Amino acid sequence: MDINQIEIVHRLTESSRGILAADESVSTCEKRFSPFGIENTEENRRAYRDGLFGANISKYLSGIILHEETLNQENLAGRKFSEELGGKNVLVGIKVDQGLENMNGSQLEQYSLGMETLKLRLEDYKSKGATFTKWRTVYRISDSTPSSELLSVNSNTLAEYAREVLSAGMVPIVEPEVLMDGDHGIKKDREVTYLVLKSLFQKLSEFGIDFSKIILKPNMVAPGSGSTEKVSAIEIADNTLAVLQEVLPDNLGGVAFLSGGIDPDLAIESLRQINLRKTSHLRMTFSFARALQASFLNTWRGSADNLEKARSDFEIQLGKASLAATIYT
Ligand code: G3H
Repeated sequence: MDINQIEIVHRLTESSRGILAADESVSTCEKRFSPFGIENTEENRRAYRDGLFGANISKYLSGIILHEETLNQENLAGRKFSEELGGKNVLVGIKVDQGLENMNGSQLEQYSLGMETLKLRLEDYKSKGATFTKWRTVYRISDSTPSSELLSVNSNTLAEYAREVLSAGMVPIVEPEVLMDGDHGIKKDREVTYLVLKSLFQKLSEFGIDFSKIILKPNMVAPGSGSTEKVSAIEIADNTLAVLQEVLPDNLGGVAFLSGGIDPDLAIESLRQINLRKTSHLRMTFSFARALQASFLNTWRGSADNLEKARSDFEIQLGKASLAATIYT
């Protein structure tokens, strides 16, 4: 059954459900697996995703963002992952950017790759069941970054990407991530997040993007991972809302936050506070990777013997995130 872009946006942002970002690249899987001694093979990545998607996810997840490798794989029972998710009433998304490249020879600033082949790839992904997509750009905070050049390059990329995806009849998730790397405080993070989002929405507007058909995936505003500043979920929520309420257009489809390396329970509680404290009608949910998957991975450790318990830990985490994304009206 065909589902239109507005329906997809509504489903992805409906109360009590959110999105699982299970789209880690092969190199990010290496980072996640190596602390547990799990070998980063295609089979282990398949077993990992089989473990996650085989849990009771329908109540909590409206969508899952896959890596291209997973979209082409079957679960351990021999069924396409995309079909398994469809059967669970979970929409299939796909990460479409293809990694990062240093800008002006410095690792401090990076732009994302993949635009040249995007149009062709979208046709393929759509034919394999994907209804929505994600593109991520990153911004590091330092004394000299992010530069206005990076803001402009990345905003342009995200706007071009959104235009392509919309014309392919899919829904774009637009992810400008201000990274937590660094020792900056929450105030600096708020200033930079504001500049990044302002630049992005100006560009989206110049490109004539229909805001109602896109979902923003922003970072929550928090201190850098190397900062000594300790903040509560309420402070994260208030700082995040202060930025979003100033920058976001009223008719935006919705917001689905990344967790960014914030402690999982703090990320979830911050989302709960955001939903309790927001004054706009905009739907705000989660599109977490680490905040949802860390407990599963920690219990699973690559062994089928641990699978049942790992799934139950994952469902507990999903339940908490689902409550945080519940709108009481
Ligand atoms: O691009 C980042 C992921 O989509 C979200 O991951 O929640 O671990 O930051 P995270």
